[in-house]
Amino acid sequence: MASAPSLPYKTPAYVHKIRYHAPVDIAPLLTVDHLSIAFGSHRAVTDISFHINAGETLGLVGESGSGKSATSLAMLRLLPPSAQVTGNISFSGESLLALSPETMRRHRGHSLAMIFQEPMTALNPVMPIGAQIAEAVLAHHPQVSRKALKEKVIEAMNQVALPDPENRFGDYPHQFSGGQRQRILIAMAIVNQPRLLIADEPTTALDVTVQAQILKLLKDLQVRHQLAMLFISHDLAVVAQVANRVAVMQHGNIVEQGPVQALFHAPQHPYTRKLLASAPTMRSDRNQPLANML
Ligand SMILES: Nc1ncnc2c1ncn2[C@@H]1O[C@H](COP(=O)(O)OP(=O)(O)O)[C@@H](O)[C@H]1O
Ligand SMILES: [Mg+2]
Repeated sequence: MASAPSLPYKTPAYVHKIRYHAPVDIAPLLTVDHLSIAFGSHRAVTDISFHINAGETLGLVGESGSGKSATSLAMLRLLPPSAQVTGNISFSGESLLALSPETMRRHRGHSLAMIFQEPMTALNPVMPIGAQIAEAVLAHHPQVSRKALKEKVIEAMNQVALPDPENRFGDYPHQFSGGQRQRILIAMAIVNQPRLLIADEPTTALDVTVQAQILKLLKDLQVRHQLAMLFISHDLAVVAQVANRVAVMQHGNIVEQGPVQALFHAPQHPYTRKLLASAPTMRSDRNQPLANML
């Protein structure tokens, strides 16, 4: 590396400080380096690498069984103990795989949060939704006052546009629609203002109109809070609506990654081309069956 030009006067101490801090600010928020995951002799993920910058959405797309969920669970250290995980996952300069279980627990749901696919199974059917959002706060801020807690819950419900939060925080999950239940899970994920949100097939269980509303909400939240997001889906058309960059997974490998436009206009890998061919477009011939992608 070229050395800096020498200055004609003694460098003030703060210059060293600025130089020292600068690389930290421009480093990616999350870096996954040579990650492999095996369940016994079955290799679910093989040597994948990607990064996510602060405030950026990376889409992870691939057919069912390609290793997307295993990758996201590894990031949160939620894989079963039988999984063998190698490689490195660095979040904000910390090596997640090396953290103590206690430190990892503090990150989970706080600086790194996740929304899951199934709104009905992820929510507790016998607990009011306000209490469930409150639990997410209390897990990380046990000393919060009752008043501040209620304010946080209502604010989170407002942020995800749940109707009438003041009157509905005592209602139970079954009193909400599927799309509203997904909004409740998103409220639980964002209530502690995470820096990275992992959304694993967050709209797959929803019908198309509701899916579009949830995608719009995630995009709005991402921009408003400068959230970084890992958005996982088997559907490239869905990923393209929210992601800045896309990584394509097949059989546990990332076969291609790049900016979303480049991937659409000039896909390099045959599997990416196959995914693109299976995505319906306005021009699709409705009489032709979709290319069989799954
Ligand atoms: N807990 C587990 N035990 C054994 N195999 C698993 C486990 N979780 C996932 N797998 C296997 O790992 C591979 C990747 O799964 P997954 O990450 O869930 O795929 P995706 O989310 O892309 O559909 C699959 O072959 C799946 O069967
Ligand atoms: Mg999955």
